[in-house]
Amino acid sequence: MADRSGYGKAGKKGPSGRSYRNATGLTRQPKKMRGRKVSSQRWLTRQLNDPFVAEAKSRGLRSRAALKLEQMDDRFQLFKPGMAIVDLGCAPGGWLQVSSLRTNLGKGKARLVGIDLLETDGIVGADIFTGDITDPEMLEKVRTAIGGAADGVLSDMAADTTGHRSTDHLRTTALLEAALDFALNVLNQNGFFLAKCFRGGAEKLLLDIMHRNFKTVRHVKPAASRSESVESYVLAIGFHGIGRAEDISADVVAGGTVIV
Ligand SMILES: C[S@@+](CC[C@H](N)C(=O)[O-])C[C@H]1O[C@@H](n2cnc3c(N)ncnc32)[C@H](O)[C@@H]1O
Repeated sequence: MADRSGYGKAGKKGPSGRSYRNATGLTRQPKKMRGRKVSSQRWLTRQLNDPFVAEAKSRGLRSRAALKLEQMDDRFQLFKPGMAIVDLGCAPGGWLQVSSLRTNLGKGKARLVGIDLLETDGIVGADIFTGDITDPEMLEKVRTAIGGAADGVLSDMAADTTGHRSTDHLRTTALLEAALDFALNVLNQNGFFLAKCFRGGAEKLLLDIMHRNFKTVRHVKPAASRSESVESYVLAIGFHGIGRAEDISADVVAGGTVIV
């Protein structure tokens, strides 16, 4: 008999691999999908099918993003036991977990400080602040907590996306600029800076500043960063501090735009 369901013989399968068809032969969506907008159904399907989401969950990592940091560290060996690390935009704490493990936090002189607009669950041995990194008072607190200098500054910060590509690019670039400004003022010689960067043009002046202050600067796209996303990371290694704060203030920054 011909199949009139419209799904073909095998029937339409849900993300779990089970058919949407129930025992009566009628079809219905999985419970999790019901009542959601199409865009949020698409997001949920992607989450349920994503091997990195599954891996992060099974390993008790707080975010899928934690795998991105692991992959970048496996490739470039950024962390060493005993390092002092600052994580800007740290919630829910996946990067803090990776940093804590790879610097042996709690076993030697390692230090770890995080800050986010959102509250972040604690990590043993880390100092975590809730606040805005564009607030100079908050940054001073972070700087004091790390003891004045850091071996690495991380930023996975992203502004809430609007869906308008160039607006999102500019807003995330403004956060990159604030993170770089902080890094230039706090990094030890040979320190590193790793930050999220939506490529799109406006970041060019910031890359120039990085080239002047670090031995090498490169873009990195870890496997766990979705290929369809404009997200990538900029990794600057070997801080030599030529110019430091004076550099960025000479180029200076007004309202989120670097003016040369
Ligand atoms: C992609 S999430 C970070 C995920 C984190 N790396 C992890 O593995 O758990 C980006 C974070 O940046 C934070 N953020 C955005 N703007 C910020 C700001 N101005 N100050 C502090 N945090 C900010 C957001 O609240 C968000 O939690």
